[in-house]
Amino acid sequence: MSELLARRSAPAGSAAFPVVRPRRLRRTPALRELVRETSLRPADFVYPVFVTHGRDVRVPIDPMPGQAQVSIDNLVREAAEAEQLGIRAVLLFGLPPGKDGLGTGAYDPNGIIQEATAALKQALPGMLVITDVCLCEYTDHGHCGVLLDDGTVDNDATLELLARTAVSQADAGADVVAPSAMMDGQVGAIRAALDAVGHTDVPVMAYASKMASAFYGPFRVAAESTPQSGDRKAYQMDGANAREAMRELQQDVAEGADVLMVKPALAYLDVITRAREAFDLPIAAYNVSGEYAMLKAAAANGWLDEQAAMLETLTSIKRAGADIVITYFAKDAARLLRSND
Ligand code: PBG
Repeated sequence: MSELLARRSAPAGSAAFPVVRPRRLRRTPALRELVRETSLRPADFVYPVFVTHGRDVRVPIDPMPGQAQVSIDNLVREAAEAEQLGIRAVLLFGLPPGKDGLGTGAYDPNGIIQEATAALKQALPGMLVITDVCLCEYTDHGHCGVLLDDGTVDNDATLELLARTAVSQADAGADVVAPSAMMDGQVGAIRAALDAVGHTDVPVMAYASKMASAFYGPFRVAAESTPQSGDRKAYQMDGANAREAMRELQQDVAEGADVLMVKPALAYLDVITRAREAFDLPIAAYNVSGEYAMLKAAAANGWLDEQAAMLETLTSIKRAGADIVITYFAKDAARLLRSND
């Protein structure tokens, strides 16, 4: 054992109070900042936006104060504002003009996300456009894939549609595709389809560990994607299972994922930490709609200091091990970080 290690593992009693006083490093703001282990940057954030059809549309989302469904023209404005604040990426969710059993709006070359992506890349070429790859916003039944006669989701038939969706998004200019449907084999199917048409440079950000969570409630209002029957428990994971989460992550690595996502973030900080320890790939965590809503609601009642609670929450997600934080707070947090500089 080296001398350094020997010293580090010396019994705690060898230097203790009153010689050791941890408060010494907490005395002033400058000292605290000097020894801060985790910091937030606007470039860590991905800003999710709900894009709807029409022009000059801005429909506030009730359970997500400050967020709105926006038409493409307003999306460009939103994204420009985010870029000004130092945010480098948006994650797009689409509200199509119509829905059907096969979710055809998801892979329509002129669909809402495809048009939004093209418009955004043209207006702001430097802004990363990440697109959600899922059918739930486009199916009339609200499930993330196509249904068999018995009402269950047909995994393998859905893979082909997810692959078509990802290819059409990449064709429109998407920089990164993010499959969230929780179909087995979705990452591999999408990777193969992208590669087959020459989109070898488009990374896949995999919703690798995605739990069936009550914290998606506000999102489903925002995206109008609540399942019309049943729930998503037969494809999204059981939140009680951290070992299974590791298998899901491993599987997505094997299928070629470039970034691994853990979702939701706050109730699953342990999964983020385990993912960080087990894999060298970038880890993203999704600070989901319900996490945003509960903080906003408490703040609106005067029960929490919104800005402090927001920064503490985002810091906890990074401290747990996330490199990338997907959050509806992106603009608020970036604004605050800038004013604190
Ligand atoms: C679509 C999707 C959902 C979220 C992201 N992609 C909803 C769901 O799975 O029901 C939730 C994000 C959030 O709550 O902010 N499959």
